[in-house]
Amino acid sequence: MGTINPHPGVLAHYREYLPITDATPMLSLGEGDTPLVRSTSLEGEIGAGALYFKFEGANPTGSFKDRGMVLTIAKAIEEGSRAVICASTGNTSASAAAYAARAGLTAVVIVPDGYVALGKLAQAMIYGARVVMVRGNFDDALDIVRRLAAAHPVTVVNSINHYRLEGQKTGAFELCDVLGDAPDYLAIPVGNAGNISAYWMGFCQYHALERISRTPHVLGFEAAGAAPIVRNAVVPNPETVATAIRIGNPASWELAVEARDQSGGVIDCVTDDEILDSYQALAQREGLFVEPASAASVAGVRKLVREGKLDLTDKTTVCILTGNGLKDPDRAVMLSGDAARVDPDLVAVERALGWN
Ligand code: F0G
Repeated sequence: MGTINPHPGVLAHYREYLPITDATPMLSLGEGDTPLVRSTSLEGEIGAGALYFKFEGANPTGSFKDRGMVLTIAKAIEEGSRAVICASTGNTSASAAAYAARAGLTAVVIVPDGYVALGKLAQAMIYGARVVMVRGNFDDALDIVRRLAAAHPVTVVNSINHYRLEGQKTGAFELCDVLGDAPDYLAIPVGNAGNISAYWMGFCQYHALERISRTPHVLGFEAAGAAPIVRNAVVPNPETVATAIRIGNPASWELAVEARDQSGGVIDCVTDDEILDSYQALAQREGLFVEPASAASVAGVRKLVREGKLDLTDKTTVCILTGNGLKDPDRAVMLSGDAARVDPDLVAVERALGWN
């Protein structure tokens, strides 16, 4: 019997489209190949021809970051690096810590104190990263990371490292491979603006190679309190419940604007109420538990349709759901209220349920 490897990961799967050499280690935690789930409820609400969710929360560390991180860490090893560093709102650090652990590298993560969801912090810690919390926001943390890397022998694994975008573009490849062509619209949350830029790179590459007949219109959504691209100005004190995208000066700002303009798309913003409404709708109407930032893609599409700015009749739309809801259990519990607590007694349980 040969070696069985049913889930080889994105490096092996998309090797020919990635900057991989014979010296690149084929690192993998089985990332990619995430579910593309057809909507059963929201599709009708927005009158879409077809609405799909790409559930990136099914990646090994629970977010889309694993696609870019696996390539970035593999290239760091190839280049002889012993340590990697990143700033993060939580998911990048969880992913960096996991792949560094797998590869035997040291990971250092710099995160904003008090604004990283509990699950993400737990991940960085248990994977063995050195965690430093700064009393500031993500933008402050990234600034410190850039300066640390200029003075110390560490590889930055934020998306200013181009390999991150190269790996992340495999999300675009996958959904085209599954659908047989590009969708009409691609909706995606925007924080540091790496993912939207990476998807656009992926669509353009597949189009140039004639793997798809067209490219989609890209719809990016920032949180209203952290919307520098929409407002065309740095936001010094970004604020949103969607802590993953609480960013005021995105690193890939220009690339995101290019993706918007070249694709004939839009970058807009959604309020915290709109984000949380779609967060609950995804869980309660579609059975998809995502983190708040991920719901921005769905909230944005619903908003544009509601305002009459987007007509999805006969159109295929894919919303990227970037991270798993289990990352941020506090938010879910806070929104849902407390469960009833009773003695282990049939009548008491029936009473709690209103069944007697
Ligand atoms: N959704 C989630 C769940 C994220 O964690 C992020 C970014 C985004 C969307 C936005 O993607 O930055 O490429 O525009 N999280 C980064 C981090 C900033 O540090 O984990 P982006």
